[in-house]
Amino acid sequence: MLQLPSLKIADTCETRFILFDDLKNLWMETRGVNTGSDRSGDHDSSVNRDKSSAGIREKHLEFTGDGNMAEDAPVLLIVDANVRNSHGEMLKQVFPGKSTRYFEVPPGEESKNVATWNRIIDFAFSGPLRRNTPLVAVGGGVTGDLAGFAASGLMRGLPLYHVPTTLLAMVDSAIGGKTGINHAFGKNTIGAFYHPEAVLFDTAFLNTLPQREWLCGISEVLKYGYIADPRLLDQATALADPASRSQTLLEGVIKQSVQIKSKVVADDARESGKRAWLNFGHTFAHALETQDNYCNINHGEAVYAGMIAALFVSRKLGYNVSDEPLMALKDSYQLDLGGYTSAVDRLVTLMTQDKKNRDNSIRLVLVKDHGRPCVHPVNNRNLLREAWQYTFRALS
Ligand SMILES: NC(=O)c1ccc[n+]([C@@H]2O[C@H](COP(=O)([O-])OP(=O)(O)OC[C@H]3O[C@@H](n4cnc5c(N)ncnc54)[C@H](O)[C@@H]3O)[C@@H](O)[C@H]2O)c1
Repeated sequence: MLQLPSLKIADTCETRFILFDDLKNLWMETRGVNTGSDRSGDHDSSVNRDKSSAGIREKHLEFTGDGNMAEDAPVLLIVDANVRNSHGEMLKQVFPGKSTRYFEVPPGEESKNVATWNRIIDFAFSGPLRRNTPLVAVGGGVTGDLAGFAASGLMRGLPLYHVPTTLLAMVDSAIGGKTGINHAFGKNTIGAFYHPEAVLFDTAFLNTLPQREWLCGISEVLKYGYIADPRLLDQATALADPASRSQTLLEGVIKQSVQIKSKVVADDARESGKRAWLNFGHTFAHALETQDNYCNINHGEAVYAGMIAALFVSRKLGYNVSDEPLMALKDSYQLDLGGYTSAVDRLVTLMTQDKKNRDNSIRLVLVKDHGRPCVHPVNNRNLLREAWQYTFRALS
């Protein structure tokens, strides 16, 4: 079993990744129930294992021993409401002998805003709170970004733990310390770099994940295929189809993604250089999400469309890259972006407001060849318009 090194940002800042089999050692069986959680050996059928036993396994997590847990103040659990519905019984068992306080995050990107952040702050101060009270984010990228941002400010920083429950959060958002919320000015425009103490991965959560959300995570895996390891393009395609999805494939893809992202972040924690590669497709995607007012298009879907647009620009600038691996999944994503064709000028304007731009140039991540990204300043609005038009036609 491949082990992941922790992600060390500085002498005082290190994130532990606790994965699958490692996690099994931390989850302790209670009441002598055989949970069937032994994942050694052949895993191929376990992705389809019984939902109730997978999601509501009787086990709990031992955070003790790292010196971070306040004994006299309840653990703060910031939990996506859908996750609490489907996995609430399991969450109750997570902290044996510890009291917990729950804050439920209403599902969806609309929650990633100042109002919900404010409610989390009020909730945190409505009960006992110490500087070493752990704050645990249980959910997808929305809950993780929002709760992480709250953790970064409360008492000047509470110990943060991520329990990602979507594929997107497992392969991307729970890793690397970016936290934040959206503002009418743009996506993720308020936030902080704040690294979790640990990220705990349990793929059993994914047994209740809707197919649409699987595809959102697959977009980020395809991104790693284009910017780092082209083998992930085929693996992501296989993972997109429930019929060819297996536990072995899933765990391999998550581990490879965590490794790619941690390596990039370890080399460039504050995005002054190659961390920008992780934004492949995202400058287009964030414009689309802002134009959509975070309503109809999910982040991962916007990234899928954004990568098609960025590959178009890459080809226009002479690079030899294909969007075939993306187009092969067109029927799976079923994106209908026809309504945005009249908003192309506005989308380009939104791209010019991207917080990563410099010297009046949009800093686009392009791909020279599969696995070889670059950052390219682009000023040509016509080229960006063409890229949007190409993308809307390709996906119609
Ligand atoms: N911080 C970062 O580095 C980073 C990186 C990539 C994306 N992001 C952010 O992540 C967000 C997208 O994350 P996401 O795709 O996880 O979306 P999400 O958090 O909105 O979750 C998607 C949906 O899945 C539901 N859900 C979550 N876990 C479930 C489970 N186990 N079973 C059933 N339903 C479940 C949620 O209720 C929600 O409806 C965006 O806001 C994006 O900006 C952040």
